[in-house]
Amino acid sequence: MEFFLDTANIDEIRAAQRQGLVDGVTTNPTLLSREGGDWRKQAKRICEIVSGPVSLEVVGTTAEDMVREAEDLVGFGPNVVIKIPMIAEGLVAAKTLSEKGIKTNVTLVFSAMQALLAAKAGATYVSPFVGRLDAIGHDGMQLIEQIRTIFDNYEFETKILVASVRDPMHVQDSALIGADVATVPYKVIQQFVKHPLTDTGLAQFLKDWEQFTE
Ligand code: E4P
Repeated sequence: MEFFLDTANIDEIRAAQRQGLVDGVTTNPTLLSREGGDWRKQAKRICEIVSGPVSLEVVGTTAEDMVREAEDLVGFGPNVVIKIPMIAEGLVAAKTLSEKGIKTNVTLVFSAMQALLAAKAGATYVSPFVGRLDAIGHDGMQLIEQIRTIFDNYEFETKILVASVRDPMHVQDSALIGADVATVPYKVIQQFVKHPLTDTGLAQFLKDWEQFTE
């Protein structure tokens, strides 16, 4: 399973890269707006320091606008993936970009049918938002299972990119289901590392060794 970092923050990307945990990065307008400054410079910098795919999202809502923006954004680096909202015009844009050989990530996916439509449009990735579904009393993981089954049934090459991840269990369950990628906020990635029994076990080993060698 690949891990993408769900951030537009350079320090977070650098820190997770040191741990070997950045196969790619996903941004969105909210994440870029949080960084302030010149978003174009920030996005280009991310594309430079990350060797894997970097999702950059369009903000137009017509297919023409989305395709125009995409043609600009792909100039930011060879690893750019164009993030497109799962709306009717977004499907048109995804199909057009896929025919031009431009990689796409259809985002804001909340149902299996939306994922199926995105795959039929030729999307490289679909991004189902599990955390936002859980937050309204739905089951985000059930959606991942449904999409996995549909994509396997019809041998779609579109990758399932689990998004809106809130905790390590979202990622563990996604891995068990066989999702291709999880995009994870930096603070959640750090939660994977930690286990209280690791910390108490290490403290005991170090204490015993110190007593033995003094
Ligand atoms: C990633 O591609 C999405 O934009 C992101 O995971 C959304 O997550 P949120 O629900 O935390 O905003």
